[in-house]
Amino acid sequence: MCGIIGYTGPDPALRVLLDGLATLEYRGYDSAGVVLVDDRPGAPAELAVRKRAGKLQVLVDDVAGQDLTGSTGLGHTRWATHGDPNDRNAHPHVSGDGNVAVIHNGIIENYADLKSELLANGYTFRSDTDTEVVVQLVAALYDRAAQSGEGSPLARAVRIAVKRLEGAFSLAFVDRREPGVIVAVRREAPMVLGHRDGASLLASDVAGLLAHTRDVEALLNDQVAILTADGITVTDLDGAPASGHRFTVDWDVADAEMQGFAHFMLKEIHEQPRAVRETLLGRTDDDGRIVLDDLRVPSEELRHVDKVVIVACGTSFHSGMVAKYAIEHWAHIPVEVEIASEFRYRDPILSPHMLVVAISQSGETADTLAAAAHARAQGATVVAITNVVGSSLAREADAVLYTRAGPEIAVASTKAFTTQMVALEILALYLAQLRRALFPDEVADHLARMHALPALIEEVLDCERQMADLAQTVARARYVMFFGRHVGLPIALEGALKLKEISYLHAEGFPAGEMKHGPIALIDEGGPVVALATRGHVRSKIISNIEQVKGRGAVVLAIATEGDTEIKEHSDHVVYVPDVHELLTPILTVVPLQLLSYHVAIALGRDVDQPRNLAKTVTVE
Ligand code: F6R
Repeated sequence: MCGIIGYTGPDPALRVLLDGLATLEYRGYDSAGVVLVDDRPGAPAELAVRKRAGKLQVLVDDVAGQDLTGSTGLGHTRWATHGDPNDRNAHPHVSGDGNVAVIHNGIIENYADLKSELLANGYTFRSDTDTEVVVQLVAALYDRAAQSGEGSPLARAVRIAVKRLEGAFSLAFVDRREPGVIVAVRREAPMVLGHRDGASLLASDVAGLLAHTRDVEALLNDQVAILTADGITVTDLDGAPASGHRFTVDWDVADAEMQGFAHFMLKEIHEQPRAVRETLLGRTDDDGRIVLDDLRVPSEELRHVDKVVIVACGTSFHSGMVAKYAIEHWAHIPVEVEIASEFRYRDPILSPHMLVVAISQSGETADTLAAAAHARAQGATVVAITNVVGSSLAREADAVLYTRAGPEIAVASTKAFTTQMVALEILALYLAQLRRALFPDEVADHLARMHALPALIEEVLDCERQMADLAQTVARARYVMFFGRHVGLPIALEGALKLKEISYLHAEGFPAGEMKHGPIALIDEGGPVVALATRGHVRSKIISNIEQVKGRGAVVLAIATEGDTEIKEHSDHVVYVPDVHELLTPILTVVPLQLLSYHVAIALGRDVDQPRNLAKTVTVE
């Protein structure tokens, strides 16, 4: 949450910052702001701050034509935590003496205590944010820092100040007395650094750096970075030399562009065949056995796993639900799936023989990171399923299995979800192979079926016209219900989540068998119900559940298997997907539901890529 960008180098910083913010806006869009260190010759340097509530475009329009000079600066897009989303609370925040400016992603949990202390010492505040406390504190410490030690006093003041902060944060500072210097620090919130041709940059995620470099250094907890045009120095909080985690990103800047699609979400839905193909790439050896080079846990350890616990949030949680069916069926290991924010605050009984799988597209979701840390602390082995190389989760887990979806920019997750399911099913087959729960030819057959998925997703995408037509009716509904059984259940939940988050329609997903225990009371004449009714061992049960809601006036859209003509007798509309192994159906059935949500949101005139109140990458609790 909150996009942050910083630049110091030979070019005018404003353009670089605004372009960077455009790539990071998906992290928050309550307000946007920049600060430039205006150090034109012949006058003392000044901080020029411009910030506006609303989308980045409001700021862009505001600064157009203004004389904003400076080759060092910071930019911010906000997802509000403390203080309303107005101009005053927008970042950057400047210290009362006008010397220091800060941008911040995260929460300072002890800000109230620090604020009282600063107020008692005569400091005044202009915003309702936790962030302003930090900049006042750094400004208060600056003079003392300037009198002790070598190098940047700003960096020394930041080191002292950060030792007093509690919470999760990434922060970047500039000071008008040190033009050409940016100081950054992070604790439990992401911050990546990059350097190219006499320019140094920082950002809250790699998307902000892609236009400049793919060689990235992720700052680790409680590390401080000093950026100048000449390079980047990293220290710990005591000033001792340190280094972050260096890696190369294989994403291309074009991957983070719209490429002719009307929205990122639509582009990402259509990228799923390629993303799934990439995720499957190179997972087998010449004998057709699964090899997972990025899974650095000894096979012996995995062979003796007696329970798998999956933790994740939101859409990633739904992929975890799908994985439960696959791991239990293929590898014969019991699986629990839990929402990360719940798991982290209970006392789960874990042991070294348990495997904890933490799923997170971004690899930065605060609750999932905390759940993974909680599990590791209790001796469990943690495998991360993530899309972002170098992310916190990838670094902190014992092993990583990467999805290779490429950057996902739309707030609503689509291609990350399908690739997560693929990666998790590969993991399920791998565990089955290690434990000899499946014969080698069975593993090979399942893999061959998975390799057919990209072409089949391509076929499913052809239903877009049909979904766009149906969307016109769904958009007029008061509520939409989704139900399914077995692997259809996570897809029902995901279909409802997708629809509610981008269309703001009231949508809920249910286990089909639960309808008659309460939710069926919601059904009234013409109420739309989406039923996951593909071929499989629970199809006949789903048909009965469809009849129960139809008898009460529901209009049913069934997602069914090609060739199932009988389903037409039970439903008002049918969308067909190709016939695949039951455990692979979610990878196809979710696609029409993604398209339905997209077209309902369009029909209702919603902001598809940046739905209200949400942000990509949830780095706060
Ligand atoms: C919904 C969506 C969210 C995320 C959730 C977890 O479309 O995108 O529900 O799935 O915030 O995010 P990650 O996977 O980055 O941990």
